[in-house]
Amino acid sequence: MGFRMYSSAFARKNWLLPAWICTIYITYKFFGTGNTNTSCPKENNRHDVQVRRVSNDLSTKYDNAAEGEDVPIVFVGGMPRSGTTLMRTMLDAHPAVRCGQETRVIPRLLFMRNNWIKSAKEKKRLEEAGVLPNVLDKAVRQFILQIILNHGEPAEYLCNKDPFTLKATVYLHQLFPKAKYLFMLRDGRATAHSIISRKVTIAGFDITNYRDVITKWNRAMELIEQQCATVGGEYCMRVHYEGLVLQPVATMKKILKFLDIPWSDNVLHHEQHLGNISLSMMEKSTDQVQKSLYLDALTNWFGHIPPDVELDMPKIAPMLRKFGYDPLNPRPSYGEPDQFIKAQLEKRKYQVGNA
Ligand code: A3P
Repeated sequence: MGFRMYSSAFARKNWLLPAWICTIYITYKFFGTGNTNTSCPKENNRHDVQVRRVSNDLSTKYDNAAEGEDVPIVFVGGMPRSGTTLMRTMLDAHPAVRCGQETRVIPRLLFMRNNWIKSAKEKKRLEEAGVLPNVLDKAVRQFILQIILNHGEPAEYLCNKDPFTLKATVYLHQLFPKAKYLFMLRDGRATAHSIISRKVTIAGFDITNYRDVITKWNRAMELIEQQCATVGGEYCMRVHYEGLVLQPVATMKKILKFLDIPWSDNVLHHEQHLGNISLSMMEKSTDQVQKSLYLDALTNWFGHIPPDVELDMPKIAPMLRKFGYDPLNPRPSYGEPDQFIKAQLEKRKYQVGNA
């Protein structure tokens, strides 16, 4: 296969254990000895030399940021089935960016940490034990950093995509003041249809029930939106999936500018760079992100929402309107494709016609 798949549970176990140990006991030393994973340059193209140099410089870069606070990580997230994998894959196509597969452990650790501090009794117990908030924060920061650094190749710009990490945007901003956040938004009805039709399990969601999924989509959106608004537009950018696939040129230009990453045409042709993009065969979107941008997923949900749920839409999903979607229009138009997409569609039509 052309792209790298990390399917071996054995390899994962062997890798995760030392990461945990390092994080807890010898984080500083680990940084001092440098990133062990510096042998694979990210891209075999004209940027090769630059990226290789960057790889060699990385240990120094992260030595200087031993506490992790200065690392400008990009966090991609939002509700699963909102184009989060596509977003990170397009960034991964950039010769100087590495996001990689979902780590899964980062949102879990953030959730655990939230539980520790939420309970007044547990908080008191931790304080009595000397596990003061700053001690916890240092450990959580290092855990996240070590996972992001070491689960893939070095790159000038590191990025992480675990959809629900953005529920903790405010806390992440405290840990990594230079990090930026891409909050993926999608019409909640399309997201719900994707979850239900593809049987994507999400804790607490009844994935047989549109009303339940849309209600919980709304709740998750309220929370992430509030977190995004709190850190502000300098750090958190809302990206509509519909805009990303219909007008990728303008959208990606805006995103890279926001992230302060130089432009690369690669981001518009992620499907041509799969050899340099790590995908997990355990993730549901892997098949889809190997394709060039397509528009079918914009409308696949039409006609699938039960009538009673459609009627109640403004009440159960007020975040639809907040994000610019009309809750009462069962067949909305999301806008016109740009010239780049129009040309791609023409090319595909021509190829099909000649097949
Ligand atoms: P559907 O399941 O409705 O098709 P996530 O990665 O956040 O789970 O999002 C999955 C959605 O992203 C899927 O929605 C999928 O179609 C869409 N997607 C993935 N790759 C895509 C591509 N190359 N072009 C357009 N949409 C894509």
